[in-house]
Amino acid sequence: KQHKLWGGRFAENTHQMMERINASIDFDKRLYRQDIAGSKAHAAMLARQGVISAADEAAIQAGLDQVLAEIEAGQMAWRQSLEDIHTHVESRLAQIIGAPAGRLHTGRSRNDQVATDLRLWVLEAGRELDQALAEYQRALVALAEKHVDSIMPGYTHLQRAQPVVLAHHLLAYVEMAWRDRGRLADCLGRAAISPLGAAALAGTTFPLDPRSVAEALGFEGVFANSLDAVSDRDFAAEFIFVLGLVQVHLSRLAEELIIWSTSEFGFVTLSDAFSTGSSIMPQKKNPDAAELIRGKTGRVLGDLVGILTVLKGLPLAYNKDMQEDKEPVFDAHDTVMDCLRVMSPMLADLTVRADRLAQAVGGGFLNATELADYLAERGAPFRLAHEATGRAVRLAEAGDRGLEDLTLDELRDCCGGLAVDIDQTVYQALKPERAVDRRTSPGGTARANVERALKEARKRLWPE
Ligand code: ARG
Repeated sequence: KQHKLWGGRFAENTHQMMERINASIDFDKRLYRQDIAGSKAHAAMLARQGVISAADEAAIQAGLDQVLAEIEAGQMAWRQSLEDIHTHVESRLAQIIGAPAGRLHTGRSRNDQVATDLRLWVLEAGRELDQALAEYQRALVALAEKHVDSIMPGYTHLQRAQPVVLAHHLLAYVEMAWRDRGRLADCLGRAAISPLGAAALAGTTFPLDPRSVAEALGFEGVFANSLDAVSDRDFAAEFIFVLGLVQVHLSRLAEELIIWSTSEFGFVTLSDAFSTGSSIMPQKKNPDAAELIRGKTGRVLGDLVGILTVLKGLPLAYNKDMQEDKEPVFDAHDTVMDCLRVMSPMLADLTVRADRLAQAVGGGFLNATELADYLAERGAPFRLAHEATGRAVRLAEAGDRGLEDLTLDELRDCCGGLAVDIDQTVYQALKPERAVDRRTSPGGTARANVERALKEARKRLWPE
């Protein structure tokens, strides 16, 4: 007969397919460090509380160290029949130290154990994610610092709207990343609660001290309710949501890089290192890295829907459905980390085509608002100024000209009835540099504002 952890009450072997669907070891072996750390903290506490002897504890600690070393050396024999990481560690421990291994699981269940492991994993992964986000922010800021004077069209509805500076545009993504980091910190605060000591679901009769275990493992607090402790996966769902939003932000930037690199826009050239060619069309240079970042958003959002759906309708407390919590967490994390680590160097490698930006700023009547503002500043009601400017745009467009190409007489004609004096200064007002630099309202695109924002960002992102 097979040997199972829970084998006592069973007379028959498990079906081969049952073994296969039941096993999580293929993916949860990633939790081996957390699992062993949790066991070591638990064993130390059991000894402190007098539940196990000092000698047994010493044997358990040494044995767990050896199991850890073996796993890291690639010597662990992973077997589907041993289900999961918890069982693998414990059964290997029993092979190494014999009887005392059987005391490790006192006052503990795989239910509080697995929740502990995954929380520890998320905390560590979250810190890594925060670092990668900071790296990405630094890449954005470094690029922005080179483009305070690069004036480009700002868009709404993907139609040319008003001129902005490229640095301002890039700093918008830095803001998103600050919010992502804030959301992450918030989520990690809730993940940093230790469930160890809840046992299977109801607590235990042994005199455990969950607080000291939590402290030893670096948690910030301890569970309040044993049922909640073993069945709460909010931290996992939240973590994937945080990752999902990071990915959505990356995807928006990726999309911009993709359209900016078309011949139609031609604002940027992506380096060869992040592009591919075509097997048939020799001229092609495709923005594959950016496309993959955009495309992988699908799977990350799928991971979020996946975990939420697993949790929906689950009665308290632990249910085996919860074993399905790990793969979406791992997948979302791995995918987003990869995408951040591609986006950052891709930004560093980006060539911005100033000539194309300038050309784009020249067309599309980006300065129409300037003319309307000019008229309004000279006393016209803005609505009427807007209408007059619209007439000027129509006139200029018909002759394939810009507003700045209209003569003073033509401009005055368009503004007939406004009782506003238009003189040569209007041509100054229509210049894109002026349009940008006059937008000194808080958070606006004026270069003086942008310089200040960059200095601020530099201080925050490159601390002494
Ligand atoms: N492999 C399981 C999981 O990932 C561990 C917990 C098993 N608990 C149980 N009562 N069968 O959820």
